[in-house]
Formats: sequence, structure tokens, C-alpha cells
Amino acid sequence: MNSKKLFIETLGCAMNVRDSEHMIAELNKKESYRLTENLSEADLIIINTCSVREKPVAKLFSEIGVFKKHKKEGAKIGVCGCTASHLGKDIIKRAPVVDFVLGARNVSKLKDVIDKKHSVEVDIDFDETTYAFGEYRANPFKAMVNITIGCDKSCTFCIVPATRGDEISIPSKLIVQEIEKAVKGGAKEVMLLGQNVNNYGKHFTSSDETCNFTELLQKISKIDGLERIRFTSPHPLHMDDEFLQEFASNPKICKQIHVPLQSGSTKLLKEMKRGYTKENFLNRCEKIRTLCPQSTISTDIIVGFPNESDDDFEDTMEVLEKVRFEQMFSFKYSPRPHTKAAEFDNQIDNQIAGERLTRLQSRHTEILDEIMDSQIDTIHSVYFDELKPNGRVSGRSDDGKLFFVEGSEELLGKIVDVKVTKTSRGALEGVLI
Ligand code: SAH
Ligand code: F3S
Repeated sequence: MNSKKLFIETLGCAMNVRDSEHMIAELNKKESYRLTENLSEADLIIINTCSVREKPVAKLFSEIGVFKKHKKEGAKIGVCGCTASHLGKDIIKRAPVVDFVLGARNVSKLKDVIDKKHSVEVDIDFDETTYAFGEYRANPFKAMVNITIGCDKSCTFCIVPATRGDEISIPSKLIVQEIEKAVKGGAKEVMLLGQNVNNYGKHFTSSDETCNFTELLQKISKIDGLERIRFTSPHPLHMDDEFLQEFASNPKICKQIHVPLQSGSTKLLKEMKRGYTKENFLNRCEKIRTLCPQSTISTDIIVGFPNESDDDFEDTMEVLEKVRFEQMFSFKYSPRPHTKAAEFDNQIDNQIAGERLTRLQSRHTEILDEIMDSQIDTIHSVYFDELKPNGRVSGRSDDGKLFFVEGSEELLGKIVDVKVTKTSRGALEGVLI
């Protein structure tokens, strides 16, 4: 078989990981491609980019330089994803070696652009909702399914609405079909993806569908053979009581929830246009802890947003102390093009932002050590989905903790009880019981 070879590098979030799978599926509709990790033997090189912070964007052009140096004669280079959306044809101007540019909302056009030299498709109004989900999964046990595309918010720090466009909900029937297919392929767990998953149902293209996120979760729970449902990311603003009741009481929904704080200061939350206050946020977390004490809570935090005073930062530290997030993703604010906050006065000195980030992360590390140390000898049901080197298999407990055990591919796709024998900050080790 003479199939062509594809080298694909994926940066950024889970949505990009799923978009890369869609791209592979699209290409395979046209002709057969085999994945390679060896750049110099690839016929097609794709980089699926992220533009949420500045660092990955800066990296893009140095990566293109590496591709140019090592690619074989005639191999094509495509720049896809969020940076493709916001830089568009400028990418080709700056790096003419790039053959095509495909925006984050134009994945299904891949097979059209691939043979047109210097073609650019970055339309953020493109409706991909009825897009037949691609028949490709890098790992059949890790099933990610998009439920919305784009974002209907306008957080002043965030470039995503400019790269992925307005929010649209995918019809629930298509979502259910897609999950049924994944279950037939071996998955027992699904990860629902969207920028604000719990805003699902507000923006259908077709006017006759009505289904909110809680109802969608109920529909998905009825799928035979599906045992676990995860989702990312929900927005604190849409965590109404009905949704939290469903989260707590539906046994198929994993007890792990992402509640992105961004800042603990009500003043900054307003400037970020997040739509909630410090008190609203704490109230939602308390509600989760009360309704569902076994649930873990993760969060995203930005430090050094314009105008952040010492007191504002102390508010963030206070929320960390109160909620004791089991997982925290924290970032130094990075001014982005097409965002309001990039134009704000009082940008924070890089060194001050760095010191705040270090303080936040050190305190969270202490909290995390306490949480993980308390896990020794506890028993968790773990869904195993990935083979690791040295005879190990990894998976996640219902509450989202990463586990490693000794084992082989026979464990993949199974949910098994595991007793914790060793703890570390990032993961737990255990034995099957
Ligand atoms: N819709 C998602 C956010 C997607 S972006 C949500 O509400 O959770 C992922 C994370 O990147 C954000 O939650 C935020 O913490 C971070 N982020 C976004 N823009 C940023 C910026 N300009 N600087 C630093 N971090 C940023
Ligand atoms: Fe970005 Fe805010 Fe949407 S963080 S993705 S604009 S909810």
C-alpha cells in the first residue's frame, strides 16, 4: 500500500486535539494517509495552532523554520487552528513556504485547500454544526465529542471569539449518534467539548430544536454501554441549581467539575466581563461541595490582568484558600490582539505578575500535596484508556485523578477498582483489587 504520510503537531486545548482528529478523518476521505512522527518522511506537515497566549504564537514561526529545513522535497506545510484564524494570509506573507492556512472553524474544508497553493480559509462565520463528525479517533477509548463550537461571550482578555467565531450548538441527535459510534468502538467514557458547555442549546442553527445542557446530559445518559460522562469547560455564570442537581445526582456524570475563576476580585471580574462576582463564584463552589462532597473542582486563574492591585490578587488567594481547588491551571496575563484588555491602561509589570504567579502556584502546590497525600490506601474506580511504557496503563478515577497501574492492553476500556499505594502531586499509583 502506497499511502501518503502525515506529520501533525497539535498545540493547545482538548478542542484542538479533537480538531486534529477531524482533520485526519477529512484527509482520509480524499486519500489514505498514515501518521508518522518522522518529519522528514512526511508528504504533508500540519501544525494545529493555539493563540490563547502569546508564547505558542511566537513558537509557530520558529517551528515553520524547522519544517522547512527538514521536510522532504515536495512535502506540503499547512498551518491550521486558532493562530491560522487570526493571522490568516499574513502567515504566508511571512513564511511563503507555508502551502495553506486553515482556520479553527474551517476544519471540514481541509480537503479543498490542500491542493490549492497558498489558499487561505479562515471564515469565522462558517457553520460546521451539521458537519459529519470525522471517523477517526487516535485512541478509541478516549472519545471526545464537540457539542458547541465558538463562544458567545466577550471576556476582555480572550482571543477565542475572534478565532472560533460565534457560538453554535450542535444538534443533540448528531451528538447522541456520535457517542453511540464511539461506544461501539470500545469507549465507555465520553468527554463533551465546548467553550461554555453549560450554555448548550442557546444557539441552534435550526429553529425547531430545543434542548439545554441538563437535558442533553439526560439524553446522553440513556446511551447503552456508556458509563461515564465528562465535559469541559462549563462557565460559572451558567451553573444554575438545576444543572448542579443533575451533576450531583446523575450517576453517569463524573464527579469532576471545572469552574474557571480567572480572578477572585469582583472589580477585575467586571473588567474581564465575566458576569459573576467573587461571592457568586464562592456560592457556586459551596453548592457543589454541599450537593456533591465527593466532587473535585478545577479552575483556571489569570494573574497580572491590567489594573490588578495587591488587594485584587489577595482576593484571588482568598478564593484559593476557601475552595481548595483540586486542580489549578494558572497563567500570567498575556495581551492578545482583537481583545479589549490589550488596550487597557495600567498593564502590570512582568516581574510583579511573575511574583504573584509564583506565590499562587506555591500555595496551590501545598494544598495539592495535602489532598494527594490523603489518598493513600483509598479505593477508586478507574477507567483505563492509555497504554504507557514499561508495562503500565493509565486512566482516571471518577473524580478525575490520574492513575497508573502495572498492566497490559487487556485493561484498556475497562473500569476497575484500584487501591492507592503511592501518591505524587500529579498522579496516583495503585494496585488492582
Ligand atoms: N471558555 C474557556 C476558556 C478558554 S481559554 C473557559 O471559560 O474556561 C483557556 C484559559 O486560558 C482561560 O480560562 C484563561 O484562564 C486562559 N487565558 C485566556 N486568555 C488569556 C490571556 N490573554 N492571558 C492569559 N491567560 C489567558
Ligand atoms: Fe474566552 Fe471567555 Fe469565551 S474565556 S472562550 S471569551 S467564555
